[in-house]
Amino acid sequence: MKLFERRTYDMKCNWKTYVDNYLEGYHLPSVHPGLNRELDFSAYVVEPHTRGQERYVRQLSPIRGAQPGDTTPRRYQEAREDLTTDYFWVFPNWMLNCYPDNVSLNIVVPLAAELSLAIFEWYLPEKDHGAPAAKASVEFSDQIQMEDVGICEVVQRNLRSRSYARGRFSVKQEKGVHAFHRMYGKLMQE
Ligand SMILES: [Fe+2]
Repeated sequence: MKLFERRTYDMKCNWKTYVDNYLEGYHLPSVHPGLNRELDFSAYVVEPHTRGQERYVRQLSPIRGAQPGDTTPRRYQEAREDLTTDYFWVFPNWMLNCYPDNVSLNIVVPLAAELSLAIFEWYLPEKDHGAPAAKASVEFSDQIQMEDVGICEVVQRNLRSRSYARGRFSVKQEKGVHAFHRMYGKLMQE
């Protein structure tokens, strides 16, 4: 795969708020209806890798594929057991989004306490660079990113709310967030 496009996004949130959001998948149905249509959320898996020197989290989801009764075609028509979308986050701030037709790299850079920059780079097979589908791949994940920026900025504002109190991590849904906080806490103590 070769670099196809690079975009940057200014975000009014702390970089850790963005990583928290990246590491929990349960906002998928509510925040990303377009992506949720493509993925089988009931089979979404979060795998923290924290043994030894490992410091990353893999999230993966099978693709739903075409369904009877679809009125508009899905982006990913084919569903196979070995066909998944994989999202890798590597401590502290870089992410790799793997789709069947493209890969995007995403680095979140802290600029201020409540300001971050996300740098996205999309990679596609060189033979696909001229096809309209290449642009569509970028627009598809641009849409997802804009949805994430929106929710992260709301979360950041709400973290300042006087009614906000810390809660417990969800064992089912926040394994990835918990792993991140443990890694971050450990590094801060070193
Ligand atoms: Fe998201």
